[in-house]
Amino acid sequence: MKKTIKDYDLKGKKVIIRCDLNVPIENGVIMDDNRIQESLKTIKAAMRKGAKIILLSHLGRVKNEEDKIRYTLKPIAERLSELLGKKVIFIDETSGDKVNRAIETMKNKDIVLLENTRFEDLEDEKESKNDEELGKYWASLGDIFINDAFGTAHREHASNVGIAKHLPNGIGYLVEKELKYLNKAVTKPKQPYVVILGGSKVSDKIHVINNLALKADYILIGGAMAFTFLKAAGFNVGKSLVENESIDYCIDVLNDFEDKIILPIDIVTSNEISSNAKALTRFINEIEEDEIGLDIGPRTIKVFKQYLDNSKTIVWNGPVGYFELEPFAQGTKQLLEIVTSTKAITILGGGDTARAAIDMGYQDKITHISTGGGASLEMLAGKQLPAISFIDEKDK
Ligand code: 3PG
Repeated sequence: MKKTIKDYDLKGKKVIIRCDLNVPIENGVIMDDNRIQESLKTIKAAMRKGAKIILLSHLGRVKNEEDKIRYTLKPIAERLSELLGKKVIFIDETSGDKVNRAIETMKNKDIVLLENTRFEDLEDEKESKNDEELGKYWASLGDIFINDAFGTAHREHASNVGIAKHLPNGIGYLVEKELKYLNKAVTKPKQPYVVILGGSKVSDKIHVINNLALKADYILIGGAMAFTFLKAAGFNVGKSLVENESIDYCIDVLNDFEDKIILPIDIVTSNEISSNAKALTRFINEIEEDEIGLDIGPRTIKVFKQYLDNSKTIVWNGPVGYFELEPFAQGTKQLLEIVTSTKAITILGGGDTARAAIDMGYQDKITHISTGGGASLEMLAGKQLPAISFIDEKDK
């Protein structure tokens, strides 16, 4: 058992809480604040206990100076202030005098949010490569470290693993809840156990399919990932998103798990990605050169339904279509209806899948909506999550 926030007396202590506040933001507007909402419990508990709270999070993947404008945490500090009913002091730096001064002058129950930890990636990828000095520096700002960033638990970064190595530590309420639900699915999933995989972060997910296929009875594949598989199976996928470097891997998976991997038989395509796009339904051998596959088709939904109807555990990671646009939302919408009409334990993972379920009104019908896409999938595939491994055990 891991130590948790409940194991510490936080009064007057500087508590660093690593959150995953990586939420979709368009033109400075937060499109979905689920991860922020889910982070509140731990922050509020630290407030109640009279801690000085230092929040850290990443946002997006920061590759150049321009990304710093797009990926500032300022709008998140504002949203957090609204939700907590208390001003969250935003420091637009990740290290240095401004940060140190702000922390030195904190009073009990004050909350400070530092700028996006991945701004440190602009210099030698210090955050993402878990630079020893950076982890040590951030740890020097606090007395206790609480990791509540489940979505980032599969990453070994300076702001999670790096800090944990240098401070007494524990997990927060969000991570505790995630581990409780996901552990059940990892250790004894009730069978038939069906996994639905979709979404756009293909490279992150594709390589756990092998491990998942050893545990699950069936893996239903939709979303962008389907096109790499369909291409591997010899179909022309037009202009659909394909990860060419994973084709050989997909061929192996298809050969090894022929009866378990269920691919779409029809696809909704279009020549453009827009809300007015003309959508066409194609059998997978009919996709034309200039078409982009953007959703699973109605026949595929029927096939997937047959697998889902009798299942006892359903894990779903990644929407099966471009659900943000109405012409391509049917697959995700109908699967949500099917999944929530079963008696199965249902676990959804990933920011987009959670957003689809919440926006479409299915939130209360799902056993657990995980805040982590890649993290939940790696855990379900039986991998160790480094950011959790580095947290102290209770009996230490
Ligand atoms: C996520 O959105 O899955 C997490 O916040 C991790 O983000 P990353 O894939 O950019 O590391």
